[in-house]
Amino acid sequence: MDLSDDDRATLFRAGSDALRFNAPLGDDRARALVDELGRRGVRSVVDLGCGRGGLARLVTVRLDGVAVTGVDADADAVTAARTSAAEAGLGDRVRFEVGDAATWCEPVDAAIAVGVSHAFGGPAAQFARLANLAASGIALVGDGVWETEPDAWCLTNLGEQPTSAGGLAALAEAAGWTVLAADLSTQDEWDAFEGGWVAGVRSVGSPVAEAFAAERERQYREHYRGVLAFCWLVLTRSPSR
Ligand SMILES: C[S@@+](CC[C@H](N)C(=O)[O-])C[C@H]1O[C@@H](n2cnc3c(N)ncnc32)[C@H](O)[C@@H]1O
Repeated sequence: MDLSDDDRATLFRAGSDALRFNAPLGDDRARALVDELGRRGVRSVVDLGCGRGGLARLVTVRLDGVAVTGVDADADAVTAARTSAAEAGLGDRVRFEVGDAATWCEPVDAAIAVGVSHAFGGPAAQFARLANLAASGIALVGDGVWETEPDAWCLTNLGEQPTSAGGLAALAEAAGWTVLAADLSTQDEWDAFEGGWVAGVRSVGSPVAEAFAAERERQYREHYRGVLAFCWLVLTRSPSR
């Protein structure tokens, strides 16, 4: 469906604004991933492509005394992230900056990158870049992979993806990371993500929004549900950590 740039921006924003995390990420998994960082004693964390800051806020709440930075290229998302942090009383414990994930260069103990590999030029380049940032630390990565054979629509519209968790993990290992954990979002996490996003689009309340939401639902149902998966990797460069 053809959309003007303005309509596209409005609808995508409404979709992401409706979600706590702009990824197929349930609350239980989010807490478990953050607690894994805590167990490994990280003192500084950057979330690259943090969006509205949901995960960075969770890190701040759960890991006392850890310096947390969220970076996103979208100034409106960064403003929303700052506002939410201030409203939650976290304003002085987490900072949000407008910036390019691909060139951000403050060293940290742990780097998070969820759904943002395109900003680096793909997952292989992302793993190499995260290695520079968290040189002896941890990375937490969420990214798309094919779970089953994609059809022509998927290949045209969703681009190249590694095959399964093993394919993404192999790219991380090639960049010198050791894989501590690899898992795929559950179907419930995907359905909740898609359902929440589409509900956000519908909340715009226009005929264009309704048509776009219905089209996305059809594409999900007919093409990528159960085909495109989202893989979660916990990585280290220092296996003793
Ligand atoms: C799929 S969303 C994921 C957001 C967030 N990680 C989450 O899980 O809620 C991708 C995010 O990457 C951001 N982004 C895209 N290109 C970027 C870049 N070059 N530098 C920083 N952020 C970027 C987008 O603005 C968007 O917020």
